[in-house]
Amino acid sequence: MKEFEIFHDIEELDNESKYLIHKAKEAASHAYAPYSKFHVGAAVILDDGTLVTGSNQENASYPLCICAERVVLYTAATQYPEKKIMKMAVVAHRKNHKELSPATCCGACRQVMSEFEVRQNKSFEVIMLKSKNEWLKCVSAESLLPYVFKRNNLHE
Ligand code: THU
Repeated sequence: MKEFEIFHDIEELDNESKYLIHKAKEAASHAYAPYSKFHVGAAVILDDGTLVTGSNQENASYPLCICAERVVLYTAATQYPEKKIMKMAVVAHRKNHKELSPATCCGACRQVMSEFEVRQNKSFEVIMLKSKNEWLKCVSAESLLPYVFKRNNLHE
């Protein structure tokens, strides 16, 4: 499998990815984003097929806002600590807009996603809308953050 693949039509994606995108869309409707009005949803599928979703949660104290990706990962780690994340999808839309907005994971989330790959000793695929009609499927979180700082940096 290539490190990055682009799909111009959602129908070209595999069924599991389409399902995750669908669940991420649903999750975006639970975003609390009164400040940015940018509603993000994330969904992960675990190694036994369990699905977990998350959405961005904002705060009047802006730096306390948390992205959908970190919400879904920390929820999965808390509720299913023994299970591994196999795939993640992220979608976003602006309030009252029907169409999805492109949204690629921020650097902070990429760092957190990468740590999950280390802790579960397994990479996971990431799907997101890179630009209009361009779905990006990445083979791993680390591919999105080359030369990432990892825990072995602390002990070498
Ligand atoms: N956001 C996410 O939840 N995920 C991303 O990939 C990009 C940004 C959130 C953070 C904030 O609540 C809003 O989108 C605008 O940045």
